Amino acid sequence: MSYKLNTAHHENFFKAFSRVPDNSFDLCVTSPPYYNARKYGSEWDGFQSPTDWFHFCDDMLACVAQVMKPEGIIWWNTASGYESGKRLTVVEQLIVSAERRGLYLIDKIPWCKTSFLPKNYQNRPYPAREENLIFSKAPVLAVYYRDQVRRPYAESTLKRLEYPVGNLQADEKGEFTKRKMVKPHPDGKTVPNYLVGRVDVSKRDHPAPMATWVAEFAINAYSKKGDFVLDPMCGIGTTLVKAIELDRFALGFDANEEYVDKANEAIWAITMMTTPVPMSPLSEPM
Ligand SMILES: C[S@@+](CC[C@H](N)C(=O)[O-])C[C@H]1O[C@@H](n2cnc3c(N)ncnc32)[C@H](O)[C@@H]1O
Repeated sequence: MSYKLNTAHHENFFKAFSRVPDNSFDLCVTSPPYYNARKYGSEWDGFQSPTDWFHFCDDMLACVAQVMKPEGIIWWNTASGYESGKRLTVVEQLIVSAERRGLYLIDKIPWCKTSFLPKNYQNRPYPAREENLIFSKAPVLAVYYRDQVRRPYAESTLKRLEYPVGNLQADEKGEFTKRKMVKPHPDGKTVPNYLVGRVDVSKRDHPAPMATWVAEFAINAYSKKGDFVLDPMCGIGTTLVKAIELDRFALGFDANEEYVDKANEAIWAITMMTTPVPMSPLSEPM
């Protein structure tokens, strides 16, 4: 069995992962089904309980970890889920369970949504946030490509940097540090560990596609050109398309055939203009 790269495959990842060689991917960018929030049109629609959802996520994460390179990164986009007025702790349980297995949390990068239609809840504000959990089997080997995700400085910052800057804290000897000139980086400022941005309002053929700009950020922050990117639950292929556009190799799976067809249509639309995919360990017969 071999899997063609830059393609979405109609397969349940719980079956597919054992046919993918271990240590294959530099980056996985994925968003598993939410807890009973959406209908995905597959056998994975309904979780009986939060525990059921936890086991699904926990098993999936373990399968993904097996096919990641030691230095690889898993970007796991999820939302916490609520039931009976309570916030579920599945995300926290997942982090603890992953760590016990040797998959470590590098950080959480929440996405705060700037556009949403708030509903009222009796005991809490509207949950306008999703979590991005960043995991690695060997965090000290993992690389964050900060220069690929720099953002323009605000006008006010650039103005401020025309003068010497420094803080007003004394050092260990009780001396105040001298203010000095700081040059702005030519490619912009580094970003904090949270994302702020719009919900994807484009009418795409999926009940919960990942926001394209979030996938783009994840790929730029944690991979370089020529790297191998996986999405084991790729839906209509947001991660795959972005990865290919950014000159990475991409492989995706989804349990729903309709989504896989849409993903491949989107991939063909962008790859018609590019060169054929070279052979790689992943596309050779196993
Ligand atoms: C939140 S959606 C992902 C959407 C995707 N990121 C996109 O932008 O289109 C979750 C997807 O997981 C798929 N899925 C659920 N269980 C799966 C499994 N065991 N193997 C592969 N895909 C699965 C569902 O069919 C659904 O499309």
